[in-house]
Amino acid sequence: MRMYDLIMKKRNGNELTTEEINFFISGYTKGSIPDYQVSALLMAIYFQKMNERETTNLTMAMVNSGETINLSKIKGIKVDKHSTGGVGDTTTLIVGPIVAAAGVPVAKMSGRGLGHTGGTIDKLESFEGFSTSMSIEKFMKDVNETKIAIGGQTADLAPADKMLYSLRDVTATVDNISLIASSIMSKKIASGADAIVLDIKTGSGAFMKNEDDAFELAREMVEIGTNVGRKTIGVITDMDQPLGYAVGNSLEVEEAIDTLKGEGPKDLTELCLTLGSHMLVLGEKAKNVDEAREILKDIIKSGKGLQKLRELVVAQGGNPSFVDDQSMFKVPSIVEDILSNYEGYVKAIKADAIGIAALNLGAGRETKESIIDLSVGVVLHKKIGDFVKKGETIATIYANSEEKQKTSTKMVLDAYEIVKEKTNPKPLIKGIVTRDGIIKF
Ligand code: URA
Ligand code: CA
Repeated sequence: MRMYDLIMKKRNGNELTTEEINFFISGYTKGSIPDYQVSALLMAIYFQKMNERETTNLTMAMVNSGETINLSKIKGIKVDKHSTGGVGDTTTLIVGPIVAAAGVPVAKMSGRGLGHTGGTIDKLESFEGFSTSMSIEKFMKDVNETKIAIGGQTADLAPADKMLYSLRDVTATVDNISLIASSIMSKKIASGADAIVLDIKTGSGAFMKNEDDAFELAREMVEIGTNVGRKTIGVITDMDQPLGYAVGNSLEVEEAIDTLKGEGPKDLTELCLTLGSHMLVLGEKAKNVDEAREILKDIIKSGKGLQKLRELVVAQGGNPSFVDDQSMFKVPSIVEDILSNYEGYVKAIKADAIGIAALNLGAGRETKESIIDLSVGVVLHKKIGDFVKKGETIATIYANSEEKQKTSTKMVLDAYEIVKEKTNPKPLIKGIVTRDGIIKF
């Protein structure tokens, strides 16, 4: 088999066979096929697309390019959750504990993430002493005993995806739905989940700016999961403004604690109840999403969700006092309110611009080597539909440098659109995609 022939075949709009896809992925992982040929094939795939069978084959070839995690020693149905990424998204820190408290084992592999803020692992490191490096034995023991563990993704999980993703990043081939779907699903499948709930974001702060594309991405991921025997559900959610109020690592952890106390932002709470309900149904701890939602609301009300977070922090070496005394989180040297120059209703908040303001403060990584400042970020006070008076606080900046404070303040002000007429925020949950079809709300 020659890579040249595969490139030409795809360039001309033909399907690649299962053997050809396996050949290309295994050759690339071993180093016998060079970057330039793979780049050409990716561009051909970008323009000619792949069908369902090819996308599933590509996913499984990437899964088989490295280790897979065998979670069979964990009792019960392991349900994973994945978000395609947004701004200020703290859901894992809430959904994990409430779902675990309902008895569904949460065996989560998380990443550090390149982006506006850190990944779940970075955020958890706000708890002094918290560590995600542990043996697979301890990981499984923790899940069996406390129903939850959050581990760092090992380098050996779907290595072909890592290589391909880096190449796509520099060859303008990231935003192809089949390539995104296979990339995300390969990691979920390799990390051993029995069932998967996907949160597919759409809007100004998301990968998929366009709602139809988000539904199509969900459909492809659900197809892949179903084809390889993992129950998969996609929930399409709004990311036209940041989720909740806090954008920044420790700030988001504090927001998660508030939400677990039942005092969190409405949108964040709603998203967590929705995603968590689907996880409970897939994990067979509730008959339907309505019953699941009641169970989860009780878990928050009774404090069992917060207790589960405490147990997680203790099990992974962190200081649990932070859960009960939020003054323990490090506060940066500058905490300054941003005042509105206008009066009116908030019509839009460019989520990506708020994300970049947080990144500029040091809340995220510009490159893989960047060191995150866990204490900095932005806390919004006003969201879409809210009324603002001139001179009223619309957001608060947490910074460790005056210069960065200034540039980020300007970015936050520019991200807000304030108008005379009231506009209501778009519905948070836009639809559900299952193997049986698509429901749009
Ligand atoms: N996230 C991934 O893991 N892969 C993609 O291709 C896009 C987003
Ligand atoms: Ca948030």
